[in-house]
Amino acid sequence: MKQQCRWHKYFTSGELEQAAVQAILHAAQQAIRQHGAFHIVLAGGTTPRRIYELLRTADAEWAAWHVYFGDERCLPVDHAERNSHMAALALLDHVAIPHGHIHPIPAERGAEIAASAYTKTLDGIELFDLVLLGLGEDGHTASLFPGHDPGSAADAPAAIAVHNAPKPPPQRVSLSAHRLSNTRQLMFLVTGNAKQQAIKNWRDGVKIPATFIIPTSGVDIYLEAGLLEEQAERTN
Ligand code: 6PG
Repeated sequence: MKQQCRWHKYFTSGELEQAAVQAILHAAQQAIRQHGAFHIVLAGGTTPRRIYELLRTADAEWAAWHVYFGDERCLPVDHAERNSHMAALALLDHVAIPHGHIHPIPAERGAEIAASAYTKTLDGIELFDLVLLGLGEDGHTASLFPGHDPGSAADAPAAIAVHNAPKPPPQRVSLSAHRLSNTRQLMFLVTGNAKQQAIKNWRDGVKIPATFIIPTSGVDIYLEAGLLEEQAERTN
């Protein structure tokens, strides 16, 4: 199946963040209305932090939210560089999502053990309602890096251990491309000029890890307009 991309460009990061917050809340309302629960996968890195901070003031049905992580860094549980730590500080510590509905990746236990433990955690969760992902300068997403197996096969485990990641720390756990694709909606959140080449490669059809994420409903890419400028000039 070919990845369907919908590109949403914004002229300021503030506009992008507001649009992402509205899209997340809309997805939550829809899911809760349709099946009483909202299963969301949070992105790591720095780009989503402001979006999470904005979300915490929203009037949402937090009790119906179930939170998972797209990837995690193999660091102690309270380490400041953990994606779970960033998400807790920005959102989860401030809203009434039941503790039992928040599922951090136990990456402090080491990549292999954590990956198999998280694969078990995801047993029984068929489709996510919404997956949030970032994009790295080399085209990586979650902790799926160029030159590494993205786990896009149908029998790929839900979570995979990542070693020798080019972005520190080298030991990580990532949801596989196959598992990340099992979602009703998927949003990429992309800011920072350093990602211009990755975006150009993506739009030119170059296989980067982000292109292995293929939900049947397609993907929505929220990005800063500046990341598309050079291409616009090229096509005009
Ligand atoms: C991580 C992330 C990673 C991130 C991208 C973009 O743990 O590092 O999951 O995939 O989303 O590297 O990072 P920034 O948002 O910080 O640019």
